[in-house]
Amino acid sequence: MKLLWTLILLGLTSAAPTKQIIQSTIGATEPGLFVVNVTIGTPKQQFIVQLSIQNNGLYIQDKSCSNYCNHTFDSSKSSTYRFVSQNTSGDYNYTIGQDIVNLGLSPNLLPIPNTIFEQDTISYYADGVLGLGLGNTGGLGLIGNNLPILVNAYNQGVVDQPIYTIYVRKNIQNGDAGVITYGGVDSTNCGSMIAYQPLANYENYIIEFSDISYGSYANSSTYTTIVDSTYDGISGPASVIDSMAKVVGATPNQIYYYQVDCDKKLPSFTFMIGGKQYTIDSNHQIGAKNTKFPLTNMCEWKFFRYSEDGLWMFGGPFAKSYCNIYDPGNKRVGFALPKDSFSTISTTHGTQGVDQNTVTHGTHGVDQNTVTHRTQGVDQNTVTHRTQGVDQNTVTYGTHGVDQNTVTPSTQGADQTSRNSIVLLSILFIFLNFI
Ligand SMILES: *[C@@H]1O[C@H](CO)[C@@H](O)[C@H](O)[C@H]1NC(C)=O
Ligand SMILES: *[C@@H]1O[C@H](CO)[C@@H](O)[C@H](O)[C@H]1NC(C)=O
Ligand SMILES: *[C@@H]1O[C@H](CO)[C@@H](O)[C@H](O)[C@H]1NC(C)=O
Ligand SMILES: *[C@@H]1O[C@H](CO)[C@@H](O)[C@H](O)[C@H]1NC(C)=O
Ligand SMILES: *[C@@H]1O[C@H](CO)[C@@H](O)[C@H](O)[C@H]1NC(C)=O
Repeated sequence: MKLLWTLILLGLTSAAPTKQIIQSTIGATEPGLFVVNVTIGTPKQQFIVQLSIQNNGLYIQDKSCSNYCNHTFDSSKSSTYRFVSQNTSGDYNYTIGQDIVNLGLSPNLLPIPNTIFEQDTISYYADGVLGLGLGNTGGLGLIGNNLPILVNAYNQGVVDQPIYTIYVRKNIQNGDAGVITYGGVDSTNCGSMIAYQPLANYENYIIEFSDISYGSYANSSTYTTIVDSTYDGISGPASVIDSMAKVVGATPNQIYYYQVDCDKKLPSFTFMIGGKQYTIDSNHQIGAKNTKFPLTNMCEWKFFRYSEDGLWMFGGPFAKSYCNIYDPGNKRVGFALPKDSFSTISTTHGTQGVDQNTVTHGTHGVDQNTVTHRTQGVDQNTVTHRTQGVDQNTVTYGTHGVDQNTVTPSTQGADQTSRNSIVLLSILFIFLNFI
């Protein structure tokens, strides 16, 4: 019965034939955000949205947004749009709508009927945010039932599996950051599956890892990390990151930012996930050159000391070393070597597997009630100042501990205060790159 209903629905709502798996280019914008194309409505209105693992759901600038919103969604121009609700009672003002959302562009369309999304009156860095994380975020979270978009697609028979894969290129050039595969594993860019790791915490893609090693430094502790392909580095507890920095002679440039000699051969960073050893090659650990002091030949070291509570964040070097396969239906995340990899995988360390009994639930959750808003129109000096106003003692990442009193969002007014922190952190990384 349900299947029949789904088929009828698809027949009615999508003119183009549906595909079970599609691929879409991931763009990298200044300042360093990952973006993808999506369309909403009938006829299709096209948007470029920021990819985010920190959020769950689609957030789009609404036509009623007047400040810094170049591309906005006009619900009156979509014949398939359905109004769900409006909230004008809080700090911010949004409408919840429902429509056909296409991940990808023609001819690689993946039309997902009945997608609930948030229409915002305040602006984003891009035209909106495609949140591919878990949990309830933003206004969508408040109305409940905030299904991950690919789970919604799966429930309607649009994809065979509610899975997506993110492949990030080793060298991001000309705004070409990689490929996202909706509906399955990316067999074009990724080799065979290494393993899936069950989530330690369902608030997002948070897994356990252990037994880190970096040159002469080793630590056999068990940690948790969020697997976030859209994040630009690897961040971890200050105690560990500082010890690793000593091994390679990385020197602090800013509070969060270490730099190393650009030509230095760094040791591999290795660690265990689920009884397998993963390796992050030296090449992935060195970032942009510090152009302020060109004679010094110093480059950004891609390990950041953000987290004080033990939660790591694996992006950048990890995402370039391993394809990340996000599987919300089975509450797990998987890894595969990219076909152009120079990393290796060892399967001979079975004794050091994750002890599932030590999983701690809920203690390191990411605060989901945040959506990344752009502060276009903010001059860069202001942003730089803001990075220095962050309270180092409390910052972890995301909303965890960003001191909202110190780090006030800028020109958009008070509206953004409650929802800006992830972007602030993105900004921190981004602008530190330019210092
Ligand atoms: C988005 O689509 C436009 C064409 O409409 C294209 O020029 C652009 O490269 C696309 N961006 C990405 C990230 O795919
Ligand atoms: C938005 O429009 C303004 C003014 O036309 C332009 O300067 C800016 O680059 C545009 N931003 C984007 C993200 O398209
Ligand atoms: C919310 O936005 C609507 C237009 O979408 C506007 O009429 C209303 O005044 C706004 N309310 C607040 C509190 O900003
Ligand atoms: C409206 O938004 C505020 C937060 O700004 C929230 O506290 C409230 O529950 C929301 N109302 C509804 C009906 O979602
Ligand atoms: C090992 O990691 C644990 C957990 O973060 C930390 O408390 C400890 O200080 C680390 N040990 C060393 C030698 O760095």
